[in-house]
Amino acid sequence: MSYRKDSDSVELGDCTRNPGYKDADGDGPAARDNISVSDSEEKRDSIGVKRLSDARDEYTQIKPYAGMPKEVLVLYSSKARYRVPREILFWLTVCCTLALVAVTIAVIALSPKCLSWWQASPVYQIYPRSFKDSDGDGVGDLKGIKEKLDHFEYLNIKSIWISPFYRSPMKDFGYDVEDFRDIDPLFGTMKDFEELLATMHSKGLRLIMDFIPNHTSDRHRWFNLSRTRDPHYEDYYVWTDCKPDGPKPNNWVSIFGNSSWTYDEVRGQCYLHQFLKEQPDLNFRNPDVIKEMIDIIHFWLEKGVDGFRMDAVKHMLEASHMRDEPQVDPNKPPELVTTEWDLHSDYTTSQVGLHDILREFRAQMDTYSQEPGRYRFMVIESYDYEEVYKTMMYYGTRLEKEGDFPFNFYLLDLPQNTSGVWAKHLVHLWMGNMPKGKWPNWVVGNHDRTRISSSAGQLYVRAINMLLLTLPGTATTYYGEEIGMENINVTASQIQDPAGKYNTSASRDPQRSPLQWNANMNAGFNDKTNLTWLPLHPDYETVNVEAQMKDDGSVLAQYRFLNTLRQSELPLNRGWFCYVHADANVFSYIRELDGLKRAFLIVVNFGKESAATDLSSVRELPDELKVLMSTNKANDGKVFPKSRIQTEVGEGLVIQYSTNTRFNPNHPEECYISEKACYLETIGILYKCQ
Ligand code: GLC
Ligand code: MG
Repeated sequence: MSYRKDSDSVELGDCTRNPGYKDADGDGPAARDNISVSDSEEKRDSIGVKRLSDARDEYTQIKPYAGMPKEVLVLYSSKARYRVPREILFWLTVCCTLALVAVTIAVIALSPKCLSWWQASPVYQIYPRSFKDSDGDGVGDLKGIKEKLDHFEYLNIKSIWISPFYRSPMKDFGYDVEDFRDIDPLFGTMKDFEELLATMHSKGLRLIMDFIPNHTSDRHRWFNLSRTRDPHYEDYYVWTDCKPDGPKPNNWVSIFGNSSWTYDEVRGQCYLHQFLKEQPDLNFRNPDVIKEMIDIIHFWLEKGVDGFRMDAVKHMLEASHMRDEPQVDPNKPPELVTTEWDLHSDYTTSQVGLHDILREFRAQMDTYSQEPGRYRFMVIESYDYEEVYKTMMYYGTRLEKEGDFPFNFYLLDLPQNTSGVWAKHLVHLWMGNMPKGKWPNWVVGNHDRTRISSSAGQLYVRAINMLLLTLPGTATTYYGEEIGMENINVTASQIQDPAGKYNTSASRDPQRSPLQWNANMNAGFNDKTNLTWLPLHPDYETVNVEAQMKDDGSVLAQYRFLNTLRQSELPLNRGWFCYVHADANVFSYIRELDGLKRAFLIVVNFGKESAATDLSSVRELPDELKVLMSTNKANDGKVFPKSRIQTEVGEGLVIQYSTNTRFNPNHPEECYISEKACYLETIGILYKCQ
């Protein structure tokens, strides 16, 4: 095919008409269809060279073809039938792009913050000595943890805090750190740790390490350099003058009892230890110490750990004036002042400057949180008892972040007075004092505290798990709570814990016994030899993970059900929490979300009698209430009139109901939400609302 072009004429040459061409704006399609290639050739032959206008008409009769020259194409492009669709398409693209940008901006602006991983799952605490022993030495280890990760998949738990596994002389079972950058051989090697972390991450699990800033072991390199007065390390610890047999520098006492000062012969001075004498306190007034700790934080974050549990932080700074602390009982002879309960710890805890240090730690961690999906979490341990405002300060301020939350230990006091009113009081101690918009959390046990199954009694175990998993915020589960493990009895000769050696009743061994996996030798904790570092609880043949997995009414099965429900139901994982009722037996509350008809009523009997709770005055509730889950499986599916919701002692009910009327708008004083969100049921999305 060829063509020749003059200034004012164009020759078609042997240009071919497309037989399939249909002209919409010229002659009717039928007529055009009949024009064949040979017709047009004939016509051209007879007329000879055509005028440009004729030629233009002629061209536009031709269906566009691939590779057509620009000049010909231009002839088409201005025709309405090509121009108009082109313009329509252009404006359509512009409008769609603008609409997309607008929708994206609106979605970003209107979306509530997604829950982060530490909000979405309970935090499960592993005490590594007691979780699973892989090598048969009677002490749990990192490989053992790796072997048992399926347990978390089963329970739908994603966040795991492992108590210390740093190199340590084990005077306080790992809370006395000899090297913050090494793993104790008892627990494994750095390679074992890296493999554990990688396996956890591949399973979507997060690893929270224990971080112990207050003190080191007396075997730590820094302490040896400090006691020999190495110029750089001289002030790494808290030293003061004293005589070997003379009076102590002041009346300060250790948490484990007796003076917190010990004379060091090498240096000829006393050093401070708020815990064991083998745990000298670091001097956080020395900026080099802060820097060392930050470097250690970086070391582990670089390895990929997902967060830290900050140990015993309130002890990090002491008053430099070192005056005696006021006695609780001013008349007590000073020589009898030997425990922390004898003194107001005004000069040894919560000193000004503490929060600056923790906020610096947090800022360092935040530099690692920038990676998408890699938020690094900080939880703080501080027992402040009735001084709840001190605890709340660890949440940081609106402008400066600190912990994601400080541990809430108030529910540990539940056994003091099992009743609905008391449960509500303890819950409200947190909810009523927590800064607005923060995220709550709940603890009923850890390696320092008696198991709640033993202090409250087995009767309440299921109800307590239900409470933890249906309250707003993050539940903490100490290993074994998911099966209702109890304290063991430890005889005086079996005591391992240094706290127990000072005071038998303060021993923490009873709550540290090996996890009961099955009914086999050593409850499956160690299946290689007959060693366990602490005795097993004798009930392990019936109370164990394997047996409870087979029983859908077990503590374990209920834990799993509630945890899964919580993670799949918006009202439970991020909705309103509203008090509905509390009396001598029952504590009851609602979880609901604006815009969502589905809501939950929780009724838990923490009392000493069965109860028929009358909620008929709660007009937002439907008249009939159907039990989704009871801690007594036989009551699943039961329907109660709202005037008589029946519970036995220790029984908890999750009632799911449907409503058009939310409780919170009418009872703002009774309700709490961390970050308000509403649900648009028609399209199933969550949005920010006022
Ligand atoms: C924390 C730990 C406890 C330890 C103490 C000293 O309170 O939980 O187990 O003994 O700090 O490190
Ligand atoms: Mg071992």
